[in-house]
Amino acid sequence: MNILILIMIVTGSVIMVSNIYRYRRFMNDLKDVLSGGSERNLLWEWIGLLLLIFFLIGYLGIAFFGKPDLLMAGILFGGSVFVAIIITLMVRLIDTTKNRSMDVAELLISVVEARDPNLNGHSRYVQNIVICFYHHLPDAITSDINFLSLQFAALLHDIGKMGIPESILNKPGRLDDEEWEVIRSHPKIGVQVLASLESFETIREWILYHHERMDGKGYYKMAKEDIPMGARIISVADTYATITMRRPYHKPKTHEEALDEIKSVAGTQLDADLVKYFEKIPKEELIACAPETVEMNHGVIAPVKMTKDA
Ligand SMILES: [Fe+2]
Repeated sequence: MNILILIMIVTGSVIMVSNIYRYRRFMNDLKDVLSGGSERNLLWEWIGLLLLIFFLIGYLGIAFFGKPDLLMAGILFGGSVFVAIIITLMVRLIDTTKNRSMDVAELLISVVEARDPNLNGHSRYVQNIVICFYHHLPDAITSDINFLSLQFAALLHDIGKMGIPESILNKPGRLDDEEWEVIRSHPKIGVQVLASLESFETIREWILYHHERMDGKGYYKMAKEDIPMGARIISVADTYATITMRRPYHKPKTHEEALDEIKSVAGTQLDADLVKYFEKIPKEELIACAPETVEMNHGVIAPVKMTKDA
């Protein structure tokens, strides 16, 4: 076999194998937020995958048993490159769609946070913490969690606050029971706001339950494993962000104070296993999660007791 033919066959084979691997990753991404993993898309995924494998087997068969000439090797090599280009374009399209979708989500949240100056940057802060936290969790937990969905849910967890009157959001003093009842409706309002997005089903569920407690004393009285894992992860991040940033009812506390507070509610408010993983995250990584708009306290003690968590 001519050396040029051999190079084209070997390179084309490597490109085809990588095409199959990239296609699988692409289809996993497509199952995410954008398509919701519908049965129809699942079917197309398998048809596409089988065609690619069929093409690879045919390619190798012709390449090694068909004694291809330079023209045939060129056609086979060109076919591999063509498939690679198509997959690259599809991946770029999905990445662009993801980024634009996240931009729209950020825009929505900035509208919500503009109504409450004390909240400025909170959702982005929670999202950054969740991204960091996700990378410190074991596979046993992350394998069941869709990372992109988790990022959307973390960013949008308080979107329901757009339905809360500003007079309550910005009230300087303590809220009465009736006002707390209104505040407690924000997860449900968030679900209603996102109701039309078919692929946000899991995200809506995590948002709805982000104020549940392990002891069953949360908004919907769910407990322990009944609370979806995504909601439990967001809850830990939300609690840390709330403690370490300035809010109407308390000054920002330090990283160490926040960890003490989080550990003190492990097993009652927060998932104890998640807290164990959370406290192992290096301080610098968590501090770096705070957007510039968030007022932090990196050392000066601000011993103001938090009253209620919204
Ligand atoms: Fe909330």
